[in-house]
Amino acid sequence: MAAIIEVKDLVKVFDGKIRAVDGITFDVQEGEIFGFLGPNGAGKSTTINMLVTLHRPTSGLAKVMGMDVVKEATKVRRVIGLVPQDLTVDDDLSGRENMILQADLYNVPKKDAVERINELLKLVKLEDAADRMVKTYSGGMRKRLELAEGLIHRPKILFLDEPTLGLDIQTRTIMWEHIRKLKQEHNMTVFMTTHYLEEADSLCDRIGIIDNGRIMALDTPATLKRSLGGDVIQMSIDDARDFTPQIQGVPGIVEVKKEGSEYRVKVIKGDTAMPAVLKAIIEAGGTVSSVSLQRPNMDQVFLEYTGRSLRDAEQAENSNRGERMARAMAAQRRR
Ligand SMILES: Nc1ncnc2c1ncn2[C@@H]1O[C@H](COP(=O)(O)OP(=O)(O)OP(=O)(O)O)[C@@H](O)[C@H]1O
Ligand SMILES: [Mg+2]
Repeated sequence: MAAIIEVKDLVKVFDGKIRAVDGITFDVQEGEIFGFLGPNGAGKSTTINMLVTLHRPTSGLAKVMGMDVVKEATKVRRVIGLVPQDLTVDDDLSGRENMILQADLYNVPKKDAVERINELLKLVKLEDAADRMVKTYSGGMRKRLELAEGLIHRPKILFLDEPTLGLDIQTRTIMWEHIRKLKQEHNMTVFMTTHYLEEADSLCDRIGIIDNGRIMALDTPATLKRSLGGDVIQMSIDDARDFTPQIQGVPGIVEVKKEGSEYRVKVIKGDTAMPAVLKAIIEAGGTVSSVSLQRPNMDQVFLEYTGRSLRDAEQAENSNRGERMARAMAAQRRR
């Protein structure tokens, strides 16, 4: 069966120089929760915007349910729903009134709209708050209302751009439950973006790690973690001598990296290797001042495939952003 989303060599260049999306190729299967994980400025929103026909690709091809996003944009719009990154609900209307507007916008027949709105408000657990003004809602309630809005025309594919941005972890997990339900009960395909590692790990069937407009790795969370090749023992040994040979003598060691007194030891199974490694060092007369065992997690996956941690990547992009803003403001003043 053909994939429900097909993307080939997709490129988006802004202003003739910013390569926001730099040649990406991937498929999404029907019924899948597919996620793009990447830092600020990675090209996640730009990709979504091309798939939902808001931005025209510079080059390459994208198809949604077999339809070209450029040549058959109108048809594509009918089968997709979008929950954008920025809040779009109207504060001075109630949740229900916002839904009615959205239903109008999507030409949902009046006779169906009332029932469908009730259904969706129930799905996202907003029935009780439906007639209150949105300005009285919490951040999590707003996001849930937006999710309901994205579903008003019963799309086959839902695009969620950072569905839990800025929400606390409890509210985030509630949102995850809603998204899982859409997949399980309605066989909906979900394409989402996130820069939360745990979100990508626990919610997505497959993840594309995206950085600087490129896909650096793409697979199930479990396979990505397995690809790191095991656990990592992190140790400090206060001794001028190098204990690498002793550590390498222990069965199941994959790799030893030493930086000053810090050792990073990649092992197949951390829980059995760790006591053996400690024993080998102590027998050689070394003193281990600290030790920890790290199981593969998405943060390490990100580091492995992009060469930097997600947090560092975000900081770098945010400081670029600050610089760009400062330059723009200076230019404004000169005018
Ligand atoms: N309309 C635009 N004009 C010019 N540059 C743009 C435009 N939209 C995005 N960009 C640039 O393209 C790059 C990718 O941006 P994009 O919004 O796709 O990133 P993102 O991964 O969604 O980031 P975030 O996590 O901050 O939402 C950035 O460098 C951004 O500044
Ligand atoms: Mg974005």
